[in-house]
Amino acid sequence: MTTRPHEESRETGRDDAPPVRFWSVDEVEAMDFDPFMEELLQQDSPALVKLPHGTEPAWVAARYDDVKLVTSDPRFSREALVGRDVTRLAPHFIPLDDAVGFADPPEHTRMRKTVAAMFTHRRIEKLRPRAEEIAGRLLDTMERAGPPADVMEHLNTPFALGGMSELMGVPEEDWPKMAKWARLVISAEAGREASEQAKHDIGAYFADLAAQRLAEPRDDVLSHMAAAERDGRLTHQELVAFAVLMQISGTNSVRFNSSNMVYLLLTHPDHLARLRAERELLPQAVDELLRFVPHRNAVGMARVAVEDVRLGDVTVRRGDPIYVSYLAANRDPEKFSCPHRMDFDRTFNPHVSFGSGPHYCVGASLAKMECEVMLGGLLDRFPRLRLAVAPEEIEWRRGELIRGPHALPVTW
Ligand code: HEM
Repeated sequence: MTTRPHEESRETGRDDAPPVRFWSVDEVEAMDFDPFMEELLQQDSPALVKLPHGTEPAWVAARYDDVKLVTSDPRFSREALVGRDVTRLAPHFIPLDDAVGFADPPEHTRMRKTVAAMFTHRRIEKLRPRAEEIAGRLLDTMERAGPPADVMEHLNTPFALGGMSELMGVPEEDWPKMAKWARLVISAEAGREASEQAKHDIGAYFADLAAQRLAEPRDDVLSHMAAAERDGRLTHQELVAFAVLMQISGTNSVRFNSSNMVYLLLTHPDHLARLRAERELLPQAVDELLRFVPHRNAVGMARVAVEDVRLGDVTVRRGDPIYVSYLAANRDPEKFSCPHRMDFDRTFNPHVSFGSGPHYCVGASLAKMECEVMLGGLLDRFPRLRLAVAPEEIEWRRGELIRGPHALPVTW
């Protein structure tokens, strides 16, 4: 069936369900908020949608309270999603073998526990000086290269990769290899086969590294995971899938999200000036940027109702797939005053940019710390930092899962 954006059809055959709407996402520009999400927010109940791939239509919950409920109520399962051809943005699931994303408690809790100690706020804070050192080195190189320079190439990309690799325990000489694999896994151009191969190669690399860390443990994530496998708390397959997922999400999410943050600051001079004048505002500003940045296109991984659940005026029936939109929830006017305004004075900011419920992002504290270090480093180093081209000339990734620029040329 071919459908135009937002076209409706009655293909569910259910008279208690609204028409299915086609959600085309490729026309969203720069840091604009997807107008379809705005429409979803204005409805009292979840909508039924179809995305470009997959056969089964799915519900989408957009309002803050519905998103919280769907993500924390055990009547919605991730495990029940396995093997279903639920409508989605990507032609294939990028984290195909992602055991942690597809698991429900108590299995999910068991897996998450094996790395939890490595990602506590306290432990991440201990890494801040080393992160500042890495960022400092990268900024030195950028400064030496001279303006104009692509800040993504010089800072956001290698820093996100270095931060994640360091925590995992990947030695510095292997970072370029990791960079290449991480690029291939999410590249639409390289094709599915290259992406699967790269995922396989990272998996084999981590299996090998885990064996080394079992023999000679260090204070890194892989060593903790290797010990968990030895003690029977994690299977070998789970270790590999979890390590690959962490490395890929940790690298790509931070890379693009922080680039979007830099773009927003450089196109909002008042916000930038305020941050320069009040550096203590940085953590709160990063939280607001996290809420405000439209991190991804469409929606991530669905859940499946294991019982009938009433949401607003609709019944999500047992077996129905349902997505949540964390991005839409972050703009719900019932929760955030003037939600479309980027406001560094927002002190009450319970955003859900890192998800909510048991699948809450493993790397939230790490990501926040890294964003603070990068933005802080840029502010300190370049008092006159600005875009080297007009904002309209920035080229944006299209049709990808995570939104962001291809490059961010700056001058100083
Ligand atoms: C700004 C950067 C980041 C953003 C916006 C982000 C966002 C998210 C969101 C929304 C989820 C929940 C998805 C769901 O409902 O299933 C999630 C899960 C996850 N994130 Fe992040 N993330 C970021 C950085 C990181 C980093 C640095 C790591 C490295 C450890 C990481 C690893 C993961 C993993 C492993 C999961 C799956 C958790 C589970 O299913 O239990 N993310 N992330």
